[in-house]
Amino acid sequence: MMVLGISGSPRLLGNTDQLLAEVLRGARSEGAETKTITVCDLDIAPCQHCDSCLRTGECKINDDMQSVYSAMEDADAIVLASPLHFMGVTAQMKALIDRCQSRWARKYRLKVPPLGDKRRRQGLFVSVGGRDVANLFDGARATVKALFATLDVDYSGELLFAGIDEAGAIARHATTLKLAYQAGRKLVRA
Ligand SMILES: Cc1cc2nc3c(=O)[nH]c(=O)nc-3n(C[C@H](O)[C@H](O)[C@H](O)COP(=O)(O)O)c2cc1C
Repeated sequence: MMVLGISGSPRLLGNTDQLLAEVLRGARSEGAETKTITVCDLDIAPCQHCDSCLRTGECKINDDMQSVYSAMEDADAIVLASPLHFMGVTAQMKALIDRCQSRWARKYRLKVPPLGDKRRRQGLFVSVGGRDVANLFDGARATVKALFATLDVDYSGELLFAGIDEAGAIARHATTLKLAYQAGRKLVRA
């Protein structure tokens, strides 16, 4: 089983990255192979809404997103990890998500599998936010659910931590990283 982790945080080795690393460590402990994509290391342009994907099912922008498509196709499970930025996923992650419009075109216009085969993949959403208020993750969750539905990925779980702001704050909480490790194990067992 291949588990793909995608981090959208621009703060390298920050809270999101630490959580994602633990999820993937948990997945490996159950025998999975893992791969990590750090979106900030990549050159991913925003969707231009040129609509060429509606005819071809491919995105004509030739940048690092092409390798992300391949990694998503290879994966059996996708862990999408992003901190909240203005109540949504980060701009870097949103660019990646919007570029999946070509996969939306495959599924809803061309009626072919969005990730190249009919496998149902598992999906986990990981997020942190500095504030601690009701409905903090609603906006980001809606975006990620829309993406997973487009990709035929089951929204099989979420790991959301409010009130985590400073770099490294996640590690100062007793249970957060442990929960992340367990979520990774559960993802593979499911
Ligand atoms: C541009 C920006 C916008 C942010 N917007 C929010 C927000 O809307 N809600 C919130 O709870 N935290 C917000 N935060 C705080 C981050 O979510 C928080 O610091 C988080 O722990 C960062 O995670 P990271 O270390 O993985 O990057 C924002 C931070 C930045 C830099």
